[in-house]
Amino acid sequence: MHLDDDARRLLDGAGGDAARKSMEILVALGTIYDAGRLIPVRSAQISGVSYANLGDAGLELLEDWARDGRVACPSTLNPAGMDLVAWRAMGIPQEFADRQLRIVRAYERMGVVPSCTCTPYFAGNRPAPGEHVAWSESSAVTFANSVLGARTNREGGPSALAAALCGRTPEYGLHLDEPRAPQVLVRVETVLPSAAHWGALGVALGRLAPGRVPLVELRGEAPGSAGAPAEEHLMALAAALPTFGGPSIFHVAGVTPEAGRYPRPADGAAVGPREIDEAFASLDDGAEPELVFVGCPHASLPTLRRVAGLLGGRPVRRTLWVATSRAVREQAAREGLVAAIEASGGLVVADTCFVVAPLAGRFRSAVTDSAKGCFYARGPNAMKVRLATLEECVEAALG
Ligand code: F3S
Repeated sequence: MHLDDDARRLLDGAGGDAARKSMEILVALGTIYDAGRLIPVRSAQISGVSYANLGDAGLELLEDWARDGRVACPSTLNPAGMDLVAWRAMGIPQEFADRQLRIVRAYERMGVVPSCTCTPYFAGNRPAPGEHVAWSESSAVTFANSVLGARTNREGGPSALAAALCGRTPEYGLHLDEPRAPQVLVRVETVLPSAAHWGALGVALGRLAPGRVPLVELRGEAPGSAGAPAEEHLMALAAALPTFGGPSIFHVAGVTPEAGRYPRPADGAAVGPREIDEAFASLDDGAEPELVFVGCPHASLPTLRRVAGLLGGRPVRRTLWVATSRAVREQAAREGLVAAIEASGGLVVADTCFVVAPLAGRFRSAVTDSAKGCFYARGPNAMKVRLATLEECVEAALG
């Protein structure tokens, strides 16, 4: 891989220890993937934030890097293991909170914005089409590639941090044209009226064409719809697709920015009501939910408006948690939405997600409108799950 003088200086330690280690990571990655060069990135989105995942070893490593590491491009953070302000309301132990706050402070010393969200595109980090970025967190990566038309590989926490500190990344994979081209044409012959249905589509695509870039053609017509899926629907597909075996990019004909850029694939597949029903059934363990959670990926402002509207001031009978970014929570608070949801007994948490929060053992079952959320609630948190529409989730919370 070609290295320019600047990169060589960083590799020689002229930019400090953290930058040297970062450049070593980038060079190793570039060598493994046969990249020709390093390219500048406009932003980084860094995962590896929750103390539940990092532990003391990760915390110490970050504090070590924060001695002289400083970001070279705008950089944002993935969710932490708790709401950084209202962690007591989540039942987070003091010891966990202390360590979690030290992790976030270490990132801040490096110049990373403590946005703590998997929807950085709602929190000031929204790349333009064609921009190269280095993002981690599969739903954010897939949304950036597919919906925004930006270019990023699915970075891990260390490689995203390395890219942030050096301001560049090796040019391979989804930074290039060819790996972004669709490989299978998928006709969707049914309506997809909710985010849960779009998540179910991600489950079906992962089964029908694992690892292959889909070009989705929408044939079903949503009654009364103007035809274009809502951004929340595309977020749900971006979250589900890589979770269930698909790639970190998709195209939707007439909707996403690169859908018409490449030749139509010769290979075809179809998704009808049966495949969508099967996807829902595969995410239904048949248990009464103890927890209702919304906001995987982090809820948009329109979703918070819908939750407040659906609650309509009625009291919840089951635990209802809505996760969002702090930026969106503040906007929602100004509209009175946070107060409305919390007056009903729900909790609007920021900075965290229910996968990286230490919830194991606290709830045995959950209902959510996120297919990705179901997958991870089943895994690390060992819950029984059910995928449902937002309306059904709110109904379940109301009991
Ligand atoms: Fe975001 Fe956590 Fe879901 S990072 S996409 S809320 S699993």
